[in-house]
Amino acid sequence: SKRVAILISGSGSNMVSLANSMTGDHPARPCVVVSNVPGVAGLQKAKDLGIATACVDHKPFGKDRDGFEKALSEVLRDHAPDIICLAGFMRILTPGFVADWEGRMLNIHPSLLPLYKGLNTHARAIAAGDAEAGCTIHEVTAALDDGPILGQARVAVAPDDTPDTLAARILPWEHRLYPAVLERFAAGDRTPLFLP
Ligand code: GAR
Repeated sequence: SKRVAILISGSGSNMVSLANSMTGDHPARPCVVVSNVPGVAGLQKAKDLGIATACVDHKPFGKDRDGFEKALSEVLRDHAPDIICLAGFMRILTPGFVADWEGRMLNIHPSLLPLYKGLNTHARAIAAGDAEAGCTIHEVTAALDDGPILGQARVAVAPDDTPDTLAARILPWEHRLYPAVLERFAAGDRTPLFLP
């Protein structure tokens, strides 16, 4: 089966949903969870699930993105993934690293791409008066939050939504969408999946 590395920076709830989905006749298995932030809750959750973990702290590298990515690549090489899933991984990757994993790296982004690339997606959707918001899984390309869309889930924005209430409505859809897209992707199916 395909080996999946999951990259995180925080709580790791999407990592848990991915890891829990890779059982039975699923075409993939988790091989390692890597965080760029030491001590985050997601690392402990991965350990509790019996998955190998690693931390490559970006801070000692300062502005040296290549140095950070070289260290990250060494960790990945040790675990030989076929696929990388970015799951709340909050570092921008350089075109060189992205090219190394072209066609084999997925990201989840909490907006209906191509709307609201970058940060503060829920606040921007509310400020724009959007009737709908959601989340997107896409293949990672050199441009930020760009690349072929593999899946999208949408929810209604409520009149009294705050960024937090909207995020809380979208997150359960992230947890459904990412495993469903990964299962298809690992089986070679890149047709976009739209939920609900
Ligand atoms: C998720 O909502 C994910 O969509 C978002 O961060 C959260 C991570 O939560 N990702 C981004 O903003 C990527 N730029 P998690 O650690 O519990 O999965």
